[in-house]
Amino acid sequence: MRIVTTRAELAAARAEATPLALVPTMGFLHEGHLSLVRRAKADHGTVAVSVFVNPTQFGPSEDLSTYPRDLARDLDLLADAGVDLVWTPRVEDIYPGGFSTYVDVEGVTDVLEGAERPGHFRGVATVVNILFNAVRPVAAYFGQKDAQQCVVLRKMVRDLAMDVDVVICPTVREADGLAMSSRNAYLDETHRAAATVLIRALRAAESAWAAGETDADALRSRMQTVLAAEPLAQVGYVSIADTDDLREIDAIDPARGALASLAVRVGKPRLIDNLLLTPR
Ligand code: PAJ
Repeated sequence: MRIVTTRAELAAARAEATPLALVPTMGFLHEGHLSLVRRAKADHGTVAVSVFVNPTQFGPSEDLSTYPRDLARDLDLLADAGVDLVWTPRVEDIYPGGFSTYVDVEGVTDVLEGAERPGHFRGVATVVNILFNAVRPVAAYFGQKDAQQCVVLRKMVRDLAMDVDVVICPTVREADGLAMSSRNAYLDETHRAAATVLIRALRAAESAWAAGETDADALRSRMQTVLAAEPLAQVGYVSIADTDDLREIDAIDPARGALASLAVRVGKPRLIDNLLLTPR
C-alpha cells in the first residue's frame, strides 16, 4: 500500500495504477467506510482512499478542530482491506495559497442538511471535485448514510459531464440499528443508548409505509412521536422527500417511493440517518 501526501507524489503513484476506484473519506474509519473499500476493490481491483478532514465543509461553529482523527489506525485498516493507494493530503495540498474556486450545486443543497449547514455542500462538492481531478478515478464510492451528499454529487457529476461512475453503497449499521458514523465517537454510554431513537423513528415511518400509508405528514408524525419520547434527542428536522429533488412531498406516489430522513442532536453530536421508502 502506497501512502502519498503531495499532489506530485500522488501523480507519480497514480501513473502506475489504472484503472483506479476512489473512496473519499475524512478518516476515523469504521465498517461503513470499509464496506465502500471492499465494494470498490471487488468492482475494480485497484483502490485509492483519500483521508482528508475537509475544512471548507465545516461551518464556523462546527466540530472541525475536534473532529476525531487516528491516522495510524486508519492506515492499518486500509492495509488490511487491500487498499493500493492512500492519499493523506495536508490542507495546502488541497487548497494551495490563493485558492478561490468553488463548486455550487444549486437547488438540492438548500434543503435538509444544506438548510441547517449553509456552505456545507459547497465544501463537499468542491473537495470531491479536486479529489476527482487529482486522482482521476473511473469510479467513486459513497454511502447512502449521507443521502443528500449522494444526490448532490450525482448531480454535480451529471451537470459538469465528469467522467466518473458514482456508486452508492448501503448504510452499515451497529447491531442495534444505529448507523455507523465517525461522530458516534462523541457519544457517552447514556447518549449512545438514546441514539437508537433515529433508526427507531425511521423504522416507524417505514413500517407505516409498508402497511399502506402514503400521507407524508402521517409518516412525519410517526417519526416525531418516537423522537418526542426520547428526552435526550433534540430534533433538527424530519423529512419525507422526493428521492431525486429532495423536495418535501404531501402524498407519496407508491411507484416512486420517497426518502425518509432526519437530523437529531443527541447530547453533543448532531446525527443524521435515512431510509429509502422503496416503491411498491
Ligand atoms: P466521511 O463522513 O468520512 O464518509 C466517507 C464516506 O463513507 C461517505 O461516502 C459516507 O457516506 C460513507 N459512510 C459513512 N458512514 C457510513 C455507513 N454507516 N455506511 C455506509 N457508508 C458510510 O462523507 C464524507 O466523509 C465527506 O463529506 C467526503 C465525501 C469525504 C468529502 O469530504
